[in-house]
Amino acid sequence: MKILLFGCHGQVGWELQRSLSVLGELVALDFDASQNPDRLCGDFSDLTGLAQTVRQVRPDVIVNAAAHTAVDKAETEPELARTLNALAPGVLAAEAQKLGAWLVHYSTDYVFDGSGNKPRREDDATGPLSVYGQTKLEGEQAVAACPRHLIFRTSWVYAARGGNFAKTMLRLASERESLTVIDDQIGAPTSAELLADVTAHALRATLREPELAGLYHCVASGQTSWYGYARYVLGQAQALGWALKTTADQVKPTTTANYPTVARRPLNSRLDSNRLQAAFGLVMPPWQQGVARMLKEIPEPASQNR
Ligand SMILES: NC(=O)c1ccc[n+]([C@@H]2O[C@H](COP(=O)([O-])OP(=O)(O)OC[C@H]3O[C@@H](n4cnc5c(N)ncnc54)[C@H](OP(=O)(O)O)[C@@H]3O)[C@@H](O)[C@H]2O)c1
Repeated sequence: MKILLFGCHGQVGWELQRSLSVLGELVALDFDASQNPDRLCGDFSDLTGLAQTVRQVRPDVIVNAAAHTAVDKAETEPELARTLNALAPGVLAAEAQKLGAWLVHYSTDYVFDGSGNKPRREDDATGPLSVYGQTKLEGEQAVAACPRHLIFRTSWVYAARGGNFAKTMLRLASERESLTVIDDQIGAPTSAELLADVTAHALRATLREPELAGLYHCVASGQTSWYGYARYVLGQAQALGWALKTTADQVKPTTTANYPTVARRPLNSRLDSNRLQAAFGLVMPPWQQGVARMLKEIPEPASQNR
């Protein structure tokens, strides 16, 4: 089996290089064609090049971990966001369908409007608040046009490799005497490792039972706010003996209204992973488990300056 992976240097893409490697021959691309021996185009802004890559590789499975993930920046470059998040996945869907290949894709809690406090299920009404959310929703719809698809909506992704909220909090806590963090957006931090492992399990199962194709919510279990997440990260870092100027107890909560950002974000980012767990016989671990693990893998921020 041949698997073509796009976005291989992102948080999820990097972990997919590991988890997919046991399923078949893996061709892993990022946007820079000079980085792969066959000079294959992995640039999502080059739709023609992307189609040519799929035609040349002729994969059995395409896994798309590439995206425009800069939520605020997307507001000022909506065309690029739409090309990367919607049009390029549409090209992959069309090429996959022609080949009879499977297409695996990732989406986001930001396709919802964030109202209420119940975890959203796959069939709940969408209502994106941002360009990122809207273009990711269009991408899902384009991917779903390929009958052989798996789409995983996830939230608050972090990894040992790449930039994310947890690492930003650690850096700021090592530089500043105080931190104020939003306490009224609720979701589940989900590790790229977990997403990559679930992807490999689910893909293997779906190749055997094609009726498992579809859309699934995929998040770690439990919930927290960004404030709760920051406190947990700093508390764990303290327990590891890291030198921080702001400790977990010194983090102050604030509201979304008091912390305006360019893009609007949903208050309720809770996703219900029950469909995924039932379909594939999986148990989503508590969000704290992966965060604690990631903190043991990364260097102490301050130690880099010593
Ligand atoms: N991060 C989150 O909190 C989050 C939450 C929910 C859903 N998701 C979804 O999960 C998936 C994986 O996200 P992630 O966290 O792994 O994001 P990420 O770390 O930002 O990875 C995205 C990858 O896409 C690449 N990329 C950017 N422009 C490209 C282009 N023109 N052509 C090809 N590749 C390009 C990026 O390269 P550069 O880094 O070099 O720009 C990066 O390697 C995405 O579909 C995302 O929407 C993420």
